[in-house]
Amino acid sequence: MNRVIYVSRGGNTKKIAGAVAKGAGVSAAPIEEFDTLQSSDILFVGASIYAGSIDGKLRKLLKGLQPSQVKSVAVFGTSAGNKSARQEIKSILEPKGITVLNEEFHCRGSFLFANRGRPNEEDMRQAEDFAKRVCNDGNE
Ligand SMILES: Cc1cc2nc3c(=O)[nH]c(=O)nc-3n(C[C@H](O)[C@H](O)[C@H](O)COP(=O)(O)O)c2cc1C
Repeated sequence: MNRVIYVSRGGNTKKIAGAVAKGAGVSAAPIEEFDTLQSSDILFVGASIYAGSIDGKLRKLLKGLQPSQVKSVAVFGTSAGNKSARQEIKSILEPKGITVLNEEFHCRGSFLFANRGRPNEEDMRQAEDFAKRVCNDGNE
């Protein structure tokens, strides 16, 4: 089964998680509800950037993840700029033999006075399409 988990301090990545979950045909769960006993085919991981890095709770969860629990990871998320969480997540998971897909979804998220209204409807539509594409590729 494919799963969608996310960390979102302000709600932006949570919005995208909802769209990704819709595209994947599952529901999204905050990482606190992630059940490490259940394995995933594709694990969609939603993350934002805070002071240049992913959230510490997510980093801890990823460090504990085992290849037996997940076949591959697809990253999505938001930040104020162009930086996505994929590179940092990849640097934690790939040394353990967990594949992080090249395809990711990232969009700008509102921060202070920047990016007002983001993620917007178009971002959500694109996030949903991204999830559909990744799931279809995984079934081929
Ligand atoms: C404490 C803090 C630090 C942040 N640092 C960065 C940063 O280094 N780079 C960046 O692009 N965005 C940064 N942002 C902006 C967030 O990544 C952006 O608002 C994102 O959409 C937040 O997602 P969330 O609402 O799901 O928590 C920061 C936001 C906060 C609150």
